[in-house]
Amino acid sequence: MYQSSLTTVECPQTTSLNMSDLTYGEQTNRNNLTDHHMSGDELVFFVNGKKERIAKSHGSQCGFCTPGIVMSLYALLRNNPTPRMADIEEAFQGNLCRCTGYRPILEGYKTFTKERSCCGGKGMENGCCMTNRVETKGYTDESVNSTSVLPAPLYNPADFLPLDPTQEIIFPPELMSLCKGQSSQQLRFRGERVLWLQPASLDQLLELKTQYPNAKMVVGNTEVGIEMKFKNLLYPVILAPGYIPELNTIQHTDEGIVFGASCSLTLLGDVLKAAVGKLPLYQTEVFNAVLEQLRWFAGLQIRNVAAIGGNIMTASPISDLNPVFMAAGCKLTLMSKGGERVVVMDEKFFPGYRKTILTPEEVLLCVLIPYTKKGQHFAAYKQSPRREDDISIVTSGMSVTFAEGSTVVKHLALSYGGMAATTVMAKNTASRLLGKQWGEELLQDACSSLAEEMTLHPSAPGGMVTYRRTLTLSLFYKFYLTVQQKLASEGAYIEGVRDDYISATEIYHQTSPSSVQIFQAVPDGQKEEDVVGRPMMHLSALKQATGEAVYCDDIPLYENELYLCLITSTKAHATIQSIDTAEAESMPGVVTCVFAKDIPGSNMTGPIVYDETVLADDTVTCVGHIIGAVVADTQAHAQRAAKAVRITYQELQPVIITIQDAITHQSFFQPVRTIQRGDLDQGFTQADHILEGEMHMGGQEHFYLETNVTVAVPKGEDGEMELFVSTQSATKTQSLVAKALGVPASRVVIRVKRMGGGFGGKESRSTTLSTVVAVAAQKLKRPVRCMLDRDEDMLVTGGRHPFYGRYKVGFMKSGKVVALEVTYYSNAGNSMDLSLSIMERALFHMENSYSIANIRGRGYVCKTHLPSNTAFRGFGGPQGMLIAESWMSDVALSLGLPAEQVRRLNMYIQGERTPYSQILDHITLDRCWDQCLEISSFTQRRAGIETYNRDHRWTKRGLSVVPTKFGISFTAAFLNQAGALAHIYTDGSVLLTHGGTEMGQGLNTKMVQVASRTLGIPSSKIHITETSTNTVPNTSPTAASASSDLNGAAVHNACEILLHRLEPYKTKNPKGCWEDWVNAAYFDRVNLSANGFYKTPDLGYDFETNTGRPFNYFSYGVACSEVEIDCLTGSHKNIHTSIVIDVGNSLNPALDIGQVEGGFMQGVGLYTLEELKYSPEGYLFTRGPGMYKIPAFGDIPTDLTVSLLRDAPNDKAIFSSKAIGEPPLFLAASVFFAIKDAIIAARKESGLSGPFRLDSPATPERIRNACEDRFTKLCPPAEPGTFTPWAVVV
Ligand SMILES: Cc1cc2nc3c(=O)[nH]c(=O)nc-3n(C[C@H](O)[C@H](O)[C@H](O)COP(=O)(O)OP(=O)(O)OC[C@H]3O[C@@H](n4cnc5c(N)ncnc54)[C@H](O)[C@@H]3O)c2cc1C
Ligand code: FES
Repeated sequence: MYQSSLTTVECPQTTSLNMSDLTYGEQTNRNNLTDHHMSGDELVFFVNGKKERIAKSHGSQCGFCTPGIVMSLYALLRNNPTPRMADIEEAFQGNLCRCTGYRPILEGYKTFTKERSCCGGKGMENGCCMTNRVETKGYTDESVNSTSVLPAPLYNPADFLPLDPTQEIIFPPELMSLCKGQSSQQLRFRGERVLWLQPASLDQLLELKTQYPNAKMVVGNTEVGIEMKFKNLLYPVILAPGYIPELNTIQHTDEGIVFGASCSLTLLGDVLKAAVGKLPLYQTEVFNAVLEQLRWFAGLQIRNVAAIGGNIMTASPISDLNPVFMAAGCKLTLMSKGGERVVVMDEKFFPGYRKTILTPEEVLLCVLIPYTKKGQHFAAYKQSPRREDDISIVTSGMSVTFAEGSTVVKHLALSYGGMAATTVMAKNTASRLLGKQWGEELLQDACSSLAEEMTLHPSAPGGMVTYRRTLTLSLFYKFYLTVQQKLASEGAYIEGVRDDYISATEIYHQTSPSSVQIFQAVPDGQKEEDVVGRPMMHLSALKQATGEAVYCDDIPLYENELYLCLITSTKAHATIQSIDTAEAESMPGVVTCVFAKDIPGSNMTGPIVYDETVLADDTVTCVGHIIGAVVADTQAHAQRAAKAVRITYQELQPVIITIQDAITHQSFFQPVRTIQRGDLDQGFTQADHILEGEMHMGGQEHFYLETNVTVAVPKGEDGEMELFVSTQSATKTQSLVAKALGVPASRVVIRVKRMGGGFGGKESRSTTLSTVVAVAAQKLKRPVRCMLDRDEDMLVTGGRHPFYGRYKVGFMKSGKVVALEVTYYSNAGNSMDLSLSIMERALFHMENSYSIANIRGRGYVCKTHLPSNTAFRGFGGPQGMLIAESWMSDVALSLGLPAEQVRRLNMYIQGERTPYSQILDHITLDRCWDQCLEISSFTQRRAGIETYNRDHRWTKRGLSVVPTKFGISFTAAFLNQAGALAHIYTDGSVLLTHGGTEMGQGLNTKMVQVASRTLGIPSSKIHITETSTNTVPNTSPTAASASSDLNGAAVHNACEILLHRLEPYKTKNPKGCWEDWVNAAYFDRVNLSANGFYKTPDLGYDFETNTGRPFNYFSYGVACSEVEIDCLTGSHKNIHTSIVIDVGNSLNPALDIGQVEGGFMQGVGLYTLEELKYSPEGYLFTRGPGMYKIPAFGDIPTDLTVSLLRDAPNDKAIFSSKAIGEPPLFLAASVFFAIKDAIIAARKESGLSGPFRLDSPATPERIRNACEDRFTKLCPPAEPGTFTPWAVVV
């Protein structure tokens, strides 16, 4: 087991890691590093301590996010070598990672901070301070204490290089002087399409604005950049006023502080913070409100460049600052050549959507943010799907001023964003409340008035109409209570806020996260060089951290290389009438366009059945259907030209977007699968109770940080082509490319070095892009490259299948389930892809971990006009099991029994059979369950929650414990095979290849560990360079969690063959070394290259007869989570999670814990946050990190324990290990059901009890709507069917 480096220590065996005062944040890319144009050596030097700690603390998996994270930390430490935790929190607000679950990154970097500063491994006489502290405190878990071996850490902080700021390279002086010279002269740049003017003085700016009234001003470019890139807007003349002194000035006046319009938001925050520190509290209420908005405004990278003027002038209806400025009555100074005028920022300032009252010649000069006065109270609120770096759903500024010495309202200003096309003020409500006492009557008046005034059409853009309307009331209620509390504390004649209401007034602060990881150390006596079972670092982690690791798009440009951009359909179901490429082909750099007619072989493609086109022929069946491509000299030229291709369509009916549409039109792929066991009728007859229910679960975007990419290089003879691809399926790519090119597969070589994440998204959907690129390369006989932009990738590739489940469950008074009938519908999109297998896996997991005597599950795969959905970690399992837990939760609720009691009662025991008749042997569910309850202190936690909920009306806590049983094997039996190839060279080094691909999960590291143990040589002698179809043929995709099992066994086989061949030389020379034996064998003309092969025995299931074994074995796990919800806003925080999971004898505990934590956090995204929004016409709104939110640093549980079940060897896989990639994801359902538990407590306050429907994800909107109360009653939803919603549930 593991002792973390940063711990309050509990025992010699284990640790708890306390990271104080952290909250965290979003967004990242690798270019951060490479954009600095440094050599590899410089980079290594540049970031030494930072990259090293993230790597050694196992914070880099696929590595695609890692340089961005290193650079964020670098920037922080460069400015502040001894940061506080809060600084780290701020620094990472703009970074995202999809693999690690963030915990190890924070842990590695925490060692730099003041509060928890570690000696870095160098400062203490007896090693690292943190390592030593571990020895002093015990862990209570019996199984942990029972260990016979000394604990080993996941890493040793003593290995960290110390941070030495004096060794950093100096900031390039030429950049400093360039910057200084900026102000003296006007700059003018002319690009292909844009004239960029940078005036040096205010006069010059005003002169230019007169000359070019339509010119676009640009300061931070965070808004204009998005408009140009994603909204296809072109501004031919741009004015950049960033260096004009008057626009950067800050003045303190009697009224408040005046900020030049170009002041950055970071500067705004710094100045206001300083003022808050100096001025009396009553004067700074607006300042504090702005600071609170800035805390959740984008990430630091954006705030450093975005300007205050840019936020105002964007005139976004969801701006976070404009409602505050309006409620505060900020004054704006506008200027043109003709003079200046000062306007108050009120409702007249924004006459329409993204419009202001400025004339074309005017610019915004500065903004006065006023002091608050005595008797005035001010607050701001922002509600967004995710706390960090997210745009608002509703945002608000509220100000009330009381008549002197009273609680009578003299002035009230309520301003809202997100409720109309502009920021609006609730004028009617404000005037209605004038002269009223601050009390219950005013509250009631305010709410009914706001409900009338803040209306939204049910079809309003942005959707969430009921929620947004409710929020206007809920946020006012928070303001009401906050003011009431202040008034009471000031001694005004008013009753204080009830104790159980106080939490509604509290501002959110993240509590210090802490974590524990527990694993079994290798047995005593295991040789030092035997790395199996040790927490060996991911072999590429250090390279990934410096940015030296080579991903597909890092391959240097080939001479003559071209870039490709896809042309995609804008209609969901239509025939193509015409395609006009004339304009596109006349554009700069364009070489050719590629369409279906250019495909020399077959246009039909698909991973299992060929039911889709490479390039659309005459019909399109989804928005994003690939119709063709433009090939040009650069990406920019190709993308620009692709937008200029004109396509006319004849729209077709029906347009089937949602599962409900598909049910209406009976649009299903065949076959419809059924698994049945027992006698359902008898089961329902026997049952004491029967209940029926339904649930919808949304899909999920893979959001691998590296989007799909292919470089195709024609070899010039015999139709040979080499493709560098980011794919999980080298062989599938090879065969589909060959099919389209009309050449034998032997002419096509696919090479995969590493992927920046895959998660199932590159199992089949990557093949279409590769094929299109290959077709273009063959047509032009030149290398062609394409790496999709995020929006393109999200548009064309599809994701996890949305599911809808209907169930009927029969159960006894005790809670024992005796009959279950469940029907699943999945939204497959426009082609079959892997959807049937995904539905099969959902059915194989329909009972999750519960023994049900009479059961029938049926699965319909819906054919719709969406991009084809596909594999995603869990492959239908997370959908099947979530719906299972929904009926389990309903059973408990309807009986009024604790859900954990009903779950435990129904849980499988050793020797029972699944619905598909597979006997469960070596079951460890009960052990996982018991340990999970123990390490989570479940009983005490439950008691604590009950007390908390009694004492809190507007925040509630919930708890849930959920098991999982995950079948390991491809359900298509033939895929359960793998190959490997091992060469030994005469210097003793070994080159290893296997059929799996490295996507961050550490497969190559594990394979080296396996080879190292088998050959009995140090891992440093073994190298894996890439996966390729010309070394190991006919590979299965790297998927189904089975790659370590399959490829590990194949590697083992190859190494054993080699070992066998070397045996005579070892026997002959027992004192010799590895190199001696290898050399002796070589000179003896022994083949030092061997193929390994493995196939999983006894597999194969027949749906017709319900016989056979679909799975080699099962992985088990249990998680317990606690959450707190804000009943008024629907936000939640993840307070605690304990996970106990059976990974057999872990091959590498660091990598396995990484998979558990990363998978769990991806599940947290799936079940609580991530939402794909489609229009009723099938248009995807959520096409990037701006609208699609994956978990960020701040979403990790405050307290997280991961324990790998000890003493659970698995005789079915290599070295007694178990698969780990997919099983942990479902454990995040514990968070979903903890949220449901908290909602139950909230509903009780309104007298509601019994089962209720909660769909997934449990977003703030769903949580708020489920917490019915006096405010929700005032905002009833519109009657379904009476309007067309902005977005539909697909
Ligand atoms: C990742 C990301 C996250 C974001 N998060 C948030 C958020 O949480 N909350 C939020 O409210 N916004 C957010 N935004 C929007 C944006 O960052 C802000 O609106 C920002 O303040 C814009 O400032 P800028 O300097 O970058 O504007 P620019 O893009 O440079 O300009 C924006 C507009 O302002 C005009 N303009 C700028 N200065 C003047 C002037 N002096 N006179 C006249 N017109 C002028 C420009 O012509 C342009 O129309 C986010 C944007 C991104 C990319
Ligand atoms: S390691 Fe962070 S995205 Fe893969």
